[in-house]
Amino acid sequence: MITLSVIKADIGGYVGHSSSHPLVLEKANERLAKAKRDKLLVDFHVTRCGDDLQLIMTHQNGEEDESIHKFAWDTFLDCTKVAKELKLHGAGQDLLADAFSGNVKGMGPGVAEMEFEERGSEPIIIFMADKTSSGAWNLPLYKMFADPFNTIGLVIAENMHQGFRFEIHDVKEHKKITLDAPDEIYDMLLFMGAPSRYAVKAVYHRGSNAIASVSSTQRLSMMAGRYVGKDDPVCIVRSQGEFPAVGEVLEPFTNPFLVEGWMRGSHHGPFMPTSIEESNPSRFDGPPRVVAAGFQLSGGKLVGPRDMFDDPSFDKARRTANEVADYMRSHGPFEPHRLPLEEMEYTTMPQVVRKLEGRFVDL
Ligand code: F6R
Ligand code: MG
Ligand code: MG
Repeated sequence: MITLSVIKADIGGYVGHSSSHPLVLEKANERLAKAKRDKLLVDFHVTRCGDDLQLIMTHQNGEEDESIHKFAWDTFLDCTKVAKELKLHGAGQDLLADAFSGNVKGMGPGVAEMEFEERGSEPIIIFMADKTSSGAWNLPLYKMFADPFNTIGLVIAENMHQGFRFEIHDVKEHKKITLDAPDEIYDMLLFMGAPSRYAVKAVYHRGSNAIASVSSTQRLSMMAGRYVGKDDPVCIVRSQGEFPAVGEVLEPFTNPFLVEGWMRGSHHGPFMPTSIEESNPSRFDGPPRVVAAGFQLSGGKLVGPRDMFDDPSFDKARRTANEVADYMRSHGPFEPHRLPLEEMEYTTMPQVVRKLEGRFVDL
């Protein structure tokens, strides 16, 4: 068995919230290389999406392992030191706890982990997003694992025909429900279609029960009880064989659907697929980005990555995203570009209401 852990945090942006500084990535690389030499990790890859630092690690310790989580936490602390020296913007912003307490979950960083038996060929796609929240994976995961108009394998591949099981989390009430596709898709969509509240945590193959996908489902704003940043979630997807083919996994991102989280975490905008190099959300701090790093696993070794959206077949999605961005921006401070009041992470509403209290009169 091998465990793949993707643990990420925004520990400082360069410039503003638009990107990451090379020295921060260098520090993380140093730390992870040492952990590999010390045999804590089998292999690793350090990357970024916008201002989020991504630690991609394989190891033999299983999910939610204290030594791996503590190592990731300490790495973020070390990288925060570099960020502070450079006075990067929001240095250490996602590290919400003062001290490590067993597990990085609930401490600020985002976590997606899966333990599995490596197959003869193990293609893995790791999606990473900036300027959006964990529910952003709902639509693409539905398409990959439940929509035959996206994934023809559900219809014509014998090993996929039984469908997939979805574990959906209610991120506000802290509850979860498991529903089967295709039998229960109408019930499933009722929840998945409301991504600000319900987020797909995991997907399983119904025949083998094998893990197919895992995402991070933190809601930073909920955890801190005040605005501290965006979830900027990650999602691991296993591919080929009994899982959707690489092309079926990537296909949902040809449509730059709307997600929440643009500018001050308070606007809807198109989810733009870009290369990792181009994941620098700068226009109105966006539009929200998604990148995809592809690996072949070999005895836990991360062979790769291939930068999967660095491909002309996603040019049209990027163009459409820019057009949708113009259209959404034309609404300025009006909904539905601006999020509904209860979803806004930044809001001056309470202060304004207090100030104008006496001036509200009964109709
Ligand atoms: C951060 C984000 C940005 C910030 C905005 C204000 O992920 O989405 O839009 O919310 O740049 O940032 P501060 O409050 O740090 O000046
Ligand atoms: Mg930031
Ligand atoms: Mg970010």
